[in-house]
Amino acid sequence: MFYDEVPEGPPDPIFGLSDAFHADVRPNKVNLVIGIYKNEDLQSELLSTVRKAKEEILKEDLLADYLPIDGSKALVGALGGLAFGDLWESLEERVYGAQTVGGTGALRIGAEFCSAFVGKTFHVPHPSWPNHRQIFERVGVVETYPYYDRSMRKFDLSAMLSYLKQLSPKSVVLLQGTCHNPTGCDPTPEEWKQIAKTMRERELMPFFDVAYQGFGTGLDRDMAQIRYFAQEGLEFLVAYSCSKNFSLYCQRVGMLFAVTSNRALKSRVGSQMKRVIRANYSNPPAHGARIVAKVLGGPLRKSWVQEVDAMRERIVSMRKKLVEKLSSRCKEKRFDYLLPHQGMFSFVDLEKEQVARLIEEYAIYLPDNGRINVAGLNSKNIDDVVEALVNVMS
Ligand code: LMR
Repeated sequence: MFYDEVPEGPPDPIFGLSDAFHADVRPNKVNLVIGIYKNEDLQSELLSTVRKAKEEILKEDLLADYLPIDGSKALVGALGGLAFGDLWESLEERVYGAQTVGGTGALRIGAEFCSAFVGKTFHVPHPSWPNHRQIFERVGVVETYPYYDRSMRKFDLSAMLSYLKQLSPKSVVLLQGTCHNPTGCDPTPEEWKQIAKTMRERELMPFFDVAYQGFGTGLDRDMAQIRYFAQEGLEFLVAYSCSKNFSLYCQRVGMLFAVTSNRALKSRVGSQMKRVIRANYSNPPAHGARIVAKVLGGPLRKSWVQEVDAMRERIVSMRKKLVEKLSSRCKEKRFDYLLPHQGMFSFVDLEKEQVARLIEEYAIYLPDNGRINVAGLNSKNIDDVVEALVNVMS
């Protein structure tokens, strides 16, 4: 009786499609759906440095106590250094960090905080990760800003800036820090400067989502724009995810940084963040945080950097192969627009009907916006994928 009026909810556009992929019995099926890094054998294995850290932690005598409400201080220091680099030492006194339940948890905590203390209107890029809208809708109003120019197949700075210029102060603007999901198209460093300038002039609140540090052009270069915002003295939030670059998807390790202007603000903002966290899940789990802090804080760090570099290099090389093969198979169309894409995703210019055919006729799974996870390709399946793409596009 209590549940009679509950309607069936729609499946999640990403996880729902992954379920459909797993249920498909066709042996040649290809999974280009979800943003999980896959090695050449298409396995999402634990990085070896992460496995070693895990083994060491299991041998240590650990207390069974709760972590503080805002999590591990060691993780804040470790990820602060990773995200902000050399700036971290000088920033630490004005940046509050809270360990969160993955990047999604950080977005959710930050969203609740903004809605209570900054502004209730959230502007997300069009297109964006579908969960952004869902998270922000729980606490406020969601609008979209133009981001991708489909006819030019690239990021559209002037459309974005014109949109930002007409927003009222304290509007919250979601910015994907690196490796834009789903398009793979990021602003250039010069474009980021213009975005920062406009946001400062219009008094807009930047809320960065960073889920792919190291997957774009390098661990440091991927964070250059966020470091620039900090150097320029802007106040902003960063939701950080360790899922991809530490292969810790199921451990849900994330961090919410609030970059403030001074120590007093850091303390006040932190005190309110803690209230939001306490009311949501009380305090975060410890295991994944200990793993990340151990990898970054000791001798495993150097090898971990190499592992991240190797993941990025495989993605770059698969993207290059895809473009080469598509271009030689289909000479009348150009595919080099895919080459500058950053990170795991590339937006392939496909209509919904073409995506439906890829799934139905070829068992190649991808979301209906044409996003592919390039790490889902390997030397065994790439020719079949190219053949299918050419067929549905012709
Ligand atoms: C994706 O976009 O596929 C990933 O970020 C995984 C997710 O949570 O949707």
